[in-house]
Formats: sequence, C-alpha cells, structure tokens
Amino acid sequence: MKVGLVGFGTTGKSVAAVLMRNPLVELEWVVRKSSAHVDRSAAQCLGLDSTSAGRMFSTSTLSAGTLLDQWPVDVVIDFSSEDGIDYYGDSAADRGVNIVSAISHYPIVKQRKLERLSRRTAVLWSPNITVGVNFLILAAQTLHRIAPGTDIEIIEEHFKGKGGVSGTAKVISVALGVDEQDIKSIRAGGIIGAHEILFGLPNQTIRLRHESISREAFGSGAMFAAERLTGMPPGLYKMEDLLVPFFGSREWASKPTWRERVFRIGSLGSSSVRGRSQIEAALKVLGRSTVDASVAPSDPPTSAPRGNAGTS
Ligand SMILES: NC(=O)c1ccc[n+]([C@@H]2O[C@H](COP(=O)([O-])OP(=O)(O)OC[C@H]3O[C@@H](n4cnc5c(N)ncnc54)[C@H](OP(=O)(O)O)[C@@H]3O)[C@@H](O)[C@H]2O)c1
Repeated sequence: MKVGLVGFGTTGKSVAAVLMRNPLVELEWVVRKSSAHVDRSAAQCLGLDSTSAGRMFSTSTLSAGTLLDQWPVDVVIDFSSEDGIDYYGDSAADRGVNIVSAISHYPIVKQRKLERLSRRTAVLWSPNITVGVNFLILAAQTLHRIAPGTDIEIIEEHFKGKGGVSGTAKVISVALGVDEQDIKSIRAGGIIGAHEILFGLPNQTIRLRHESISREAFGSGAMFAAERLTGMPPGLYKMEDLLVPFFGSREWASKPTWRERVFRIGSLGSSSVRGRSQIEAALKVLGRSTVDASVAPSDPPTSAPRGNAGTS
C-alpha cells in the first residue's frame, strides 16, 4: 500500500516511523507546512533504516495535484491541522485516493467539506484513532446494552499538570450517556494516558481499561484504518464502522487484510524475495517475536483476529 502523510510534527513523526517499519507499506512522501528538512527523506530525519522513499515536501512549494500525479498513493493520512484538508482534499478526491484524517477537531465548515469529499472517495475521520480506545468504547457500549442500569464510572489518568478532563474521556461519557461532570480524573507523575470504565453490578464489578504506551499507537490505528478502507465505496466512515464487523463476525476471515497477508509472508521460505528480517518485522507488527511454523496459508487463524487493541 502506498501512503502519503500530511504533517510531520510530534505525532506525524511517530506515525511515519510506524509506516516505514511496516514492510507492507511504502511511505511515498511526507508533506508539511514549512520547508524544514525537505532536502532529506523521512527516514533520514528519523534516523531509521527504511526502503520507503519518504520524500519530504512543503505545501508552500508544491501543489497537492502535482504531488499526487508524480508520486501516486492509495491513501493520504493526515496528522497536520484542520487546514491540511484544504491543501490535499479535492486533489485526493478527484483521483479517488482514500483519506484517513486523524485531526482531533474540525470546525463545522471543515466537517461539511469532509462530507463533500466523501461523495467522491472513502474518507475516514477519527479524532481518536487508536484501535484500543475505539475498541474500549464499543466493548463498553455492548456491555451497557447487556446490563443497562448498571453503575458506570469513568476514570481517566494522565501526567501531573495536564489540564482539564481528557477529550477521550468526554467521548466515552457521551457514548455511555454518563454526565461529563462525573468523570474522575487522576493526575500523577508521567502517566501518558489511561482510561478505565468501571461497571458496578450488585454481585460483580467489570473494569475495561486502556493504557497508552507510545504515540506509535496512533500510527498503528491510522494503518489499520487505511487498510480496512481499501476497496470501500465513497463515504464518510468512523473507526467504529471499521471495528463493528469484528464484533461477533467472521467477516475478516474472507477478506485478505494486511494481517492475513503478514501471515502469508510468515509462511514463505528463506529463498523468498522477502528476507527473514522483513518477515520478522512483519511479525513484530503482530506482537510476535519469531516466525511460527504453525502459521501457514492452509492453516488460517480461526479465532477472532488479534486487533491492535493490545498494542494501541
Ligand atoms: N486522532 C488522534 O488519535 C490524534 C492523536 C494525536 C494527534 N492528533 C492530531 O494530529 C494533529 C497533529 O498533532 P501534533 O501534535 O503532531 O501537532 P504538531 O506537532 O503541531 O505538528 C503539526 C504538523 O502538521 C504540519 N501542518 C500544519 N498545518 C499544515 C497544513 N495546512 N498543511 C500541511 N501540513 C501542516 C506542521 O508542519 P511544520 O512541521 O512545517 O510546522 C507539522 O509538521 C493535530 O490535529 C492533533 O490533534 C490526533
């Protein structure tokens, strides 16, 4: 899959690293607002060893149309700002290039623009793009339907000094119909971010908890979204739309997702054009450290897929 990345700031850099480490992805280019480091590749900027071209461009010197014509991609992943969409949106939609936007907030006028673009191509917008948090919300909603009327507590933990209630906790409160004022916040040390939903039943307590370990979870989530969007008809999608089919369905088994392709790579012999290091890198994506001989095309996984929930 060929990817173009918009934004190379704090998060964009982590996302670029995730993309470049994935042997199934070619990071064709990165575009940012300024001209900083445009003379180097993304891999050079990050000190990574990668086969991805990772060409760096500035929006001030190259139009998105030219960029997409000269270096076509399957999907544009956006970790820039609410203005990034004005740069590449129409050019991507005109060419049927999918869009994965992780911008946390869009004013209503930009949200309408996303809707217009989504009539021409598949557009996903997710203010929180980690698979883990989106899974947490879906799982909590499912439990809430199973046990309505249960006491629900939302607890969010972040580093000392983080102001306000986390945006993710607010999203969870809306999803579960909990008053935002009732969210419990803990501020301590260097906690990157943790969200827990406690369901208190008369005879049992259920806790659903997600902890952030690294910003790279945003890259894994964007990658998951980009892959799942492949082949989807034009439309405006949420992460929820991509995850719901995994709940109680074996739909994934019939669609060759990137994970399944990774499994196939894992079964190739050492004479394959893909070297063992690439196989190992691919398996790392799955959280496996070694090539497992039991994984072969004739032996597909039969249980629910291992989502990124554990690593996001
Ligand atoms: N959905 C999620 O889960 C999630 C998670 C984390 C962050 N985010 C969002 O991702 C975005 C970036 O966050 P960040 O912390 O990485 O911000 P940041 O450090 O300020 O980086 C922003 C990057 O975007 C570039 N940029 C800004 N406006 C642009 C434009 N109009 N066209 C092209 N590039 C542009 C900047 O270029 P220069 O480097 O040249 O200045 C910079 O590289 C924010 O919207 C943030 O809320 C979302």
